[in-house]
Amino acid sequence: MSLKINRVTTHPFDGQKPGTSGLRKRVTVFQQPGYTENFVQATFDAVTLNVLRGKKLVIGGDGRFLVPEVVQIIIKMAAANEIGRVIVGTNGILSTPAVSNLVRARKAQGAIILTASHNPGGPEGDFGIKYNVENGGPAPEGVTNLIYECSKKIQSYSIADIPNVDLSKPAEHSFGSGFAVEVVDSVDEYVTCMKSLFDFAALRAYCSDPANKFSMLVDCMHGVTGPYATRIFVNELGNASNSVMNNIPLPDFGGGHPDPNLTYAAALVEKMKNSEHTFGAASDGDGDRNMILGKKGFFVTPSDSVAVIAANFAHIPYFKQSGLKGLARSMPTSAALDRVAAKLNVEFFEVPTGWKFFGNLMDASRLSICGEESFGTGSDHIREKDGIWAMLCWLSIMAATNSSVEDVLIKHWTTFGRNYFSRYDYEEVDSDKANSMVAHLQQFVANPALLVGKQFGRFTVASVDDFAYTDPVDHSVSLHQGIRIIFADGSRIIYRLSGTGSSGATIRVYIDSFETDSAKLTMDAQVALKPLIETALELSKLTEFTGRKEPTVIT
Ligand code: G6P
Ligand code: ZN
Repeated sequence: MSLKINRVTTHPFDGQKPGTSGLRKRVTVFQQPGYTENFVQATFDAVTLNVLRGKKLVIGGDGRFLVPEVVQIIIKMAAANEIGRVIVGTNGILSTPAVSNLVRARKAQGAIILTASHNPGGPEGDFGIKYNVENGGPAPEGVTNLIYECSKKIQSYSIADIPNVDLSKPAEHSFGSGFAVEVVDSVDEYVTCMKSLFDFAALRAYCSDPANKFSMLVDCMHGVTGPYATRIFVNELGNASNSVMNNIPLPDFGGGHPDPNLTYAAALVEKMKNSEHTFGAASDGDGDRNMILGKKGFFVTPSDSVAVIAANFAHIPYFKQSGLKGLARSMPTSAALDRVAAKLNVEFFEVPTGWKFFGNLMDASRLSICGEESFGTGSDHIREKDGIWAMLCWLSIMAATNSSVEDVLIKHWTTFGRNYFSRYDYEEVDSDKANSMVAHLQQFVANPALLVGKQFGRFTVASVDDFAYTDPVDHSVSLHQGIRIIFADGSRIIYRLSGTGSSGATIRVYIDSFETDSAKLTMDAQVALKPLIETALELSKLTEFTGRKEPTVIT
């Protein structure tokens, strides 16, 4: 039986250029007639001919508003574009790491993830469509550029005339002409993966032995991780059922901003402060980000988190078996990981912001563990960052060393020294104003002599540059990845414009300051960094250019 395919005439929409993490816009933008279909068709036009025709495509979303409708559209368009099999999570739900894992486990050729990550959802919030390739990671720029080119030329899209597929339970649906939709449990395959990396029996023993006085609280922020955290931490590891909060995915994330940081996960921080929980964690809308807390809300910066996981790799069965191939961080992430790499004598990479840069290194078997200051931590088990995985790493370290989060951190700082780190975000700044500030900073890049050798308190400027990266695997070059002022002791000030905002410009200022004085290892980061933060604001004339006196978010 052949399917009835409708070819619908359309016209290009402006601005369908996928950013760091796919096409991310307001829901209302995606709701324009044909807008979503155009972008999906542009994606298929860019990849189907040689890659997806007759093959497998994974589809999943983080449960946000519009996901159910868009999943059905993509299924019908996949059928019309001669994709062989769609593998989709129950109710269209799959976390981003679960999609990455499914692509790899089921040897699919690509995936479409419906998420705007940590951006708010609901009818007034954001939506996003992101294409991942067959290694399970985000599409490289060559592919996203091609999608954009196709979106500019599009004249029609193809959609099959088939009924909506029942996604409420795992089942196989065949439609003839070789097209099938396989609805899979959203969590099963991911749990299988986690069980292959961690010692669940040992973790269960640790979590459930009253002698350890262990108790955890995970805030799923009404994002996608609710079902994953509940299955793993409660059902598998035996923690109390109230160890997971906000664990029902909601289309508007309960009205919140599903971003695991001290500002947006304030409810978790508050609960930790007022309870005896020894381990706290949160994840974002689509489950790839994480925040780790200790007793009374003791905060672990993401930069420290990845360094601690790497330093303790031998407590994680997967790495113990396979060994560490290499370590990597994004450029603005603090240099804590650099010191671990040096000590372990493994290859180390500093890449631009964006998880895709890690994927190439992993595919080339040169990278095992990596992380970003933006609350992303992960490994080569998949090709996305993975929030639940990071939590399981911390549990494994706590269980193996029988130490609290705080003890693990203090021991780490004592061994390696501490990189104090903070990021100031100025959101929704007028783009022209943000660009003027960057132009002002560029003069230091063009003429470093303006700053080099200058003294700011105890800091002497050693170099100024605009970070550029040459991928050691495919030799592609990425320019203008952030302006860096590097001081003689390795401390740094970095300025970058975010690549993920959905309106205006977001200016990020990153401060990284290295401390080895054992008497100064446990200071409040904002206090320790104050002089460098003031220098950063002064040099950039941020307030003058933008009118902003205070950042929107401090992490
Ligand atoms: C996404 C990407 C990350 C990146 C983050 C921040 O989460 O997956 O790799 O670090 O966005 O990007 P931005 O450009 O907003 O700083
Ligand atoms: Zn995310």
